[in-house]
Amino acid sequence: MRIRTRPGHPDFLDLPWDQPLEGWTHERVMEVARGNHRHVVQFVDYDGALYALKELPSRLAEREYRMLRRMEEESLPAVDAVGTISRNGLEDVLVTRYLDYSLPYRVLFARVPHEEQDVRSLSERLLDALVMLLVRLHVAGFSWGDCSLNNTLFRRDAGALAAYVVDVETGEWHPELTPGQREADLEITVLNVAGGLMDLQAQLGLPSEPDPADVANDLRLRYEQLWRELTTDAVIDPGDRFAVESRIRRLNDLGFDVDEVEIVEEDGGDRLTMRALVAESGHHRRRLLSLTGLDAQENQARSLLNDLANFRAYHERLDGRPLPESVAAYRWLAEVFEPTVAAIPSEQRGKREAAEVFHEIIEHKWFLSERSGEDVGVDKALASYLETVLPEEPDERNVLRGEMAEGWISFG
Ligand SMILES: Nc1ncnc2c1ncn2[C@@H]1O[C@H](COP(=O)(O)OP(=O)(O)O)[C@@H](O)[C@H]1O
Ligand SMILES: [Mg+2]
Repeated sequence: MRIRTRPGHPDFLDLPWDQPLEGWTHERVMEVARGNHRHVVQFVDYDGALYALKELPSRLAEREYRMLRRMEEESLPAVDAVGTISRNGLEDVLVTRYLDYSLPYRVLFARVPHEEQDVRSLSERLLDALVMLLVRLHVAGFSWGDCSLNNTLFRRDAGALAAYVVDVETGEWHPELTPGQREADLEITVLNVAGGLMDLQAQLGLPSEPDPADVANDLRLRYEQLWRELTTDAVIDPGDRFAVESRIRRLNDLGFDVDEVEIVEEDGGDRLTMRALVAESGHHRRRLLSLTGLDAQENQARSLLNDLANFRAYHERLDGRPLPESVAAYRWLAEVFEPTVAAIPSEQRGKREAAEVFHEIIEHKWFLSERSGEDVGVDKALASYLETVLPEEPDERNVLRGEMAEGWISFG
């Protein structure tokens, strides 16, 4: 037997590796809701840190491990590869870190009321997340080959959803994807998404509208729109000094950073076209990380950065002098973010990621302030949130200790 793991994780030596994963009864094994799958997957708990174990032939385990490592290097949203285990006479096991607070799409749908409008709005958030994921992968040169709702996990992201890749067995890296490669990937995605939603409709008894085929086609339109927005050359007016800047800002708003800008003069200088080379996505996330050390998802980061900007503007007005951004960030962290998160009672704390809870509190403050016609302040918003909102929210840890709750576990 050979165990290969990355530093910072357990050695997994205490697990019964001489037996096939199927039928493990070890005390570390946990029940977790999961998507439909081919291989045997088990989840194990090491002091609250969960790991997913997937049994598969050695060549595939190695390949998937490499693919996931590369995705991490490219800062793409995917589960983290932790290691592989090879065993005598048994298939290999790929170990990934369980993606905390993530939910399979079935669980998301099972939780919303089965009314057309709720299902439609969830479908739309799901599509937006999936389209953003696929475009990010394509920008980076990754063709997935098996994009489906079952191979994706979803996390709450400041009112929206963020999608993560779980299963990359079929993926391929290229220096750059051709239109044909992107189209093929999109085609598979549309088919898989339609299939996934149809399964769900039958299993959960969802309303006949929205029609899964229409939802899946909508995915194609949204993908094409975002792709065009990111990659089409913009025609700019030579007199407009802010045209370049505003195009860059628009791309930043979409969450992408720009690596290079190329401006070409046409028609003897009467027309300029601008090509922006989109590099990485995660613009707000990286900014928040560098200012505060907080690692959040893209929309959460956007929301937290807004709050930080308001904090800074408020203190600049109060003191009548400029406050450097790095100082404002430090003070905001110590005076606003940390105390707010610390005020959440411990039994409620694990329900949501800290950044998500903070975002919800700011939203709640906004809602209360709108209603009362004045800024209610963060303390009042926090108290009201802890009393009225958080206790009603479902627990997002998704781990079902012991008993099999509500039939989440074995779908299909
Ligand atoms: N690291 C992980 N974190 C959370 N869930 C996971 C993780 N790895 C796998 N899963 C769950 O297990 C399911 C099956 O995993 P997957 O890699 O797609 O296996 P298969 O190759 O058999 O399709 C996924 O749909 C997902 O719900
Ligand atoms: Mg899969």
